[in-house]
Amino acid sequence: MNKKTVRDIDVRGKKVLVRCDFNVPQDENGAITDNRRIVAALPTINYLLENNAKVILCSHLGRPKGEVNPKYSLRPVADELAKLLGKEVKLAGDVVGDSARSLTANMQEGEIVLLENVRYEAGEEKNDEELSKAFASLAEVYVNDAFGTAHRAHSSTTGVASYLPAVSGFLIEKELEFLGSSLENPERPFVSILGGAKVSDKIGVIEKLLDKVDTLIIGGGMAFTFLKSQGHKIGKSICEDDKLDLAKELLEKAKSKGVKLLLPIDTHVSTDYSNDADDKWVESQDIPDGWEGLDIGPETIKLFEEALQGAKTVVWNGPLGVCEFSKFKTGTYEIAKILANLDATTIIGGGDSAAAIEKMGLSDKMTHISTGGGASLEFLEGKKLPGIEALQDK
Ligand code: 3PG
Repeated sequence: MNKKTVRDIDVRGKKVLVRCDFNVPQDENGAITDNRRIVAALPTINYLLENNAKVILCSHLGRPKGEVNPKYSLRPVADELAKLLGKEVKLAGDVVGDSARSLTANMQEGEIVLLENVRYEAGEEKNDEELSKAFASLAEVYVNDAFGTAHRAHSSTTGVASYLPAVSGFLIEKELEFLGSSLENPERPFVSILGGAKVSDKIGVIEKLLDKVDTLIIGGGMAFTFLKSQGHKIGKSICEDDKLDLAKELLEKAKSKGVKLLLPIDTHVSTDYSNDADDKWVESQDIPDGWEGLDIGPETIKLFEEALQGAKTVVWNGPLGVCEFSKFKTGTYEIAKILANLDATTIIGGGDSAAAIEKMGLSDKMTHISTGGGASLEFLEGKKLPGIEALQDK
């Protein structure tokens, strides 16, 4: 990476503001249901503690839209962090107000303060200059380790970097290393699997990957737009009619580039978007009226498995069916198992596919699971991430 990291700057005895992405899923009682993003921040935090820094952490959680809302408090994150670190984590009562200023004023080396949700401040998402300066006034060094939020140009991810020496943490370094090398120098055959509901979310990444991969596997809801663009019957499956021409173009582009592009051949359909409605398996090219596809079928799993055998690099982003419904998670889960047994570099873009792998206990079998959903997608598209661009060059 051509950006400086915490290793390249003296942090001893200094107040270091670290932007993390602690935007973790919670249940209806606020309990954290997946702490991976917190765990992923530990290497940087521990390094700073070992080097006698005074550690000021900040993050957003959810989208409180510039208003204080206890539902989005970082209290559960502070408790989880304290548990993981075996150390006190003081939570400020605000972001850059009296509480944050007094807690960070006379910190001891090795002390940790977590600011409240940065999105309680209306200026955060506007990348407001005054707020950026207020963040900077709390510390002497800025570290961005929020890979999951690196695609947002906000005060705490970008603006603050103009007013302090700004470097990356170890998580951003690791994410760029894995995601970057998979694109720059993949060991071949290189196969990519794309799922998720919408083609429109993935256009950029499909175009980019068509220049890189040997095989592109498309599943999930967006496969139906491709199937319909080929003139097939898709029943009432999800489809973006305004993207049919584009889907056709992408299929042609794959052909002209010699990329093998695979679509589902059988589909697990239902009469309703529900786990409880009638269901059956049909050919993907002939989904009856009144039925919608919610998962790939067993023949498709076999087809995709064959395409994955012998692969040396696999990048996967997006589920292949509706994983929230137990009946329709099979495709995603089976493909995850196949990946776990491959002798290949396996890279999982964050979000739902990463969550499925975690639920199955297969995380250790993958080379890298990104903590970024939108951020990893934008990175794979080749876009510059503002939270990274703002950091000092080496
Ligand atoms: C994410 O979960 O993708 C990041 O934390 C960014 O969240 P946002 O989409 O609300 O900006």
